[in-house]
Amino acid sequence: MEMNHPAPRNPLDENRHGQMGRPLDRVDGPKKVTGTAAYAYEVREGAPPAYGFIVEASIARGHVRTIDSSAAEQAPGVLLVLSHRNAPPQAPWGPLKTEDRFARSKPYLSDARVDYYGEPVAFVVAETFEQARYAAQLVRVTYDPEPGAYELQHNWKRPRSRTRTRSPTAPRATSRRASPPRRCRSTCSSRRRCTSTRRWNPTRRWLWWDGDKVTVHCSTQMLDSAQKCVANTFQLPEDDVHVFSRFIGGGFGGKLPIFCDVLLSVMASRQLARPVKTTLTRQQMFHLTTHRTDTVQQLRGGRARRRHAAGDRARVLVAHRPLRQLPEPVVASTRTLYAAPDRMTRMRYVKLDLPESDSCRAPGEAVGMVTLEVAMDELAHKLGMDPVALRLKNEPKEDPEKHIPFSTRQLVPCLEEGARRFGWDRRNPQPGQERDGRWLVGMGMASASRSNKLQPAQCALTFGADGVLVARMSMTDIGTGSYTVFSQIAAEMLGLPVAQVRMELGDSHFPPTAGSGGSFGAASAGSALYDACEKLRHKFALSAGIDPAQAEFEGGHVRGGGKSASLAKLAGPEGMEAHGEIKPGEMDKAYSQQSYGAFFAEVAVDTDSGEVRVRRLLGVFASGRILNEKTARSQLLGGMIWGVGTALHEEAAIDGRHGYFVNHDIAEYHVPVHADIPDVEVVLLPEVDDKANPLKIKGLGELGISGAAGAVANAVYNACGVRVRDFPITLDKLLPGRRPCRPDSGLLLFRQQLPRPSPSPTA
Ligand code: MOS
Repeated sequence: MEMNHPAPRNPLDENRHGQMGRPLDRVDGPKKVTGTAAYAYEVREGAPPAYGFIVEASIARGHVRTIDSSAAEQAPGVLLVLSHRNAPPQAPWGPLKTEDRFARSKPYLSDARVDYYGEPVAFVVAETFEQARYAAQLVRVTYDPEPGAYELQHNWKRPRSRTRTRSPTAPRATSRRASPPRRCRSTCSSRRRCTSTRRWNPTRRWLWWDGDKVTVHCSTQMLDSAQKCVANTFQLPEDDVHVFSRFIGGGFGGKLPIFCDVLLSVMASRQLARPVKTTLTRQQMFHLTTHRTDTVQQLRGGRARRRHAAGDRARVLVAHRPLRQLPEPVVASTRTLYAAPDRMTRMRYVKLDLPESDSCRAPGEAVGMVTLEVAMDELAHKLGMDPVALRLKNEPKEDPEKHIPFSTRQLVPCLEEGARRFGWDRRNPQPGQERDGRWLVGMGMASASRSNKLQPAQCALTFGADGVLVARMSMTDIGTGSYTVFSQIAAEMLGLPVAQVRMELGDSHFPPTAGSGGSFGAASAGSALYDACEKLRHKFALSAGIDPAQAEFEGGHVRGGGKSASLAKLAGPEGMEAHGEIKPGEMDKAYSQQSYGAFFAEVAVDTDSGEVRVRRLLGVFASGRILNEKTARSQLLGGMIWGVGTALHEEAAIDGRHGYFVNHDIAEYHVPVHADIPDVEVVLLPEVDDKANPLKIKGLGELGISGAAGAVANAVYNACGVRVRDFPITLDKLLPGRRPCRPDSGLLLFRQQLPRPSPSPTA
């Protein structure tokens, strides 16, 4: 099935069995809470494993001069110490043209070069994890270091020396329509730095060789890419690489690639002819997996002559290791969200000698929308307009740059419904006026938007003689609920209880899918499953002598035209099979496809300490059909909480001399905890998008973070009148005399109106 036409009315629209939207508990929930869901590191198969431990470079740039591994080799239990001196040959990195960048060959320990802090320089394998970790400390490495560049903001003023506007892996760098408003009657210009945000999901691998074939159990979002990456690196036929990832502790983009833990384990396992298990410590994760790029963003907007429209002129600087990965497409939402007639967006990429950055939940929107939505707030304030009204006024009739219609777009209903539910009319537009004891209280809002995608996928479906329907795909469930929502789709299509449906995912030898990522997982693999279900229905109807157009499926039977037959009987001992497939088609090009929403936040700022507390959060979203209200809500909730982290907590601090992340643990890299998050409300507006896919759903996994931080930042401004443009907004930046950016003129509320510290009770 190719998505060349709007999807016709189908059994999911009928929802006769009520599976669509039902807040079904996760079908894999019992396994997870009883500890019987085996994550990669816990799989027990094959011979007893050896354990690997990675030795990291302690410089960020230069060469290894000497490695002395003799003490490590003589340590108890050590089986092997690999370094560039004895690592097996691997294909060079690349090739760049490979469409799937996660499938590229990725050699490790292939030479003495060090390109980032923590890059593996040796790999120790021993009988136990403890022995391997102990021996890793005995490996002595000396270096010839070279100076490197680590800090993005130093490149803002004279960006040319290390920047480029083109990157083969990057989206279009510049777009322009008419003349952007260099001077508007009233303008706002905001520049801000968004710091690295990371995700917290240890990656663990466990694998072994059998002859020339290798089996890998790892934690990855995209099995097909992982399989190709191993095959390309070691020049193996793809079929000789078998990757499993049945349960995954979160993905968030950090597991789109596979990393050194897999590839070094593959090397060692082949050499030792036994399974090798490797895990990264929490500290190693910071440098050995990918992180979100730092960005410096500048945006200018204003009221064009005789038009109340926001013009966008965006300039963005993105940290980047050239060629290697995806530079965050920061301006994606700026290009499509509002109707500014005159517009220009430009991205520049700066080469930094940091560990690799790559996708991190909603790459582009997660940080790009913070700037756009804060700039809209600043513009509204300057125009004396309500921020919601400014957005309503700038609602485009079609995609403002592609000049094609939107598939479905309910930004306006989301804004209106959100404003109504939140009590937005109670907001005082004048910052710094609302008090609650020693707290200043304020409200802020932001739009949400995330691009919608469909990726090719296939599905194999078998209805067995036991009456159980089994679907197989190389798809993953990264905690989003894939197992559950797919079970609901199949149950609805065949009229079966969910207990009679089994999803088998997480095996690279199953029919190919693009896995989980970019919020396309449910739509893509789910549509392949839908197609397979359609074909199976057709087969059952024909074999029962029923016109497929009339066939109804219920209680394990197919009925129609006065006939009825049991599916189990029709399937017989051989079972009945069908193969489904989905391909993106013309609908992608003919319609601009995004999911939308609106965030509303209320915060309180302590007038003594500058501490910010989030008091209320509301998100209203329209994202096509909702497959499962519970898993959808969880996804959106998680995104919104991460948005609070982006606004207030998260920063990977870079040591500007040595090029490493200083706060490389969760004690010092702060993420929101329960105490930071109030009750969060998520509202889903009804929608079906027949241009998107046959399920008529749109991606929502990343929608909840796309803009969320902007609502919090805007609420901080409304509370206390201080604009902080350097994220995260920590209390030191709100205190008088410590502000890195000049607050808006006339609104120096903290400085001018901050009350004296409250008298202590004994005074
Ligand atoms: Mo996503 S950041 O594409 O898993």
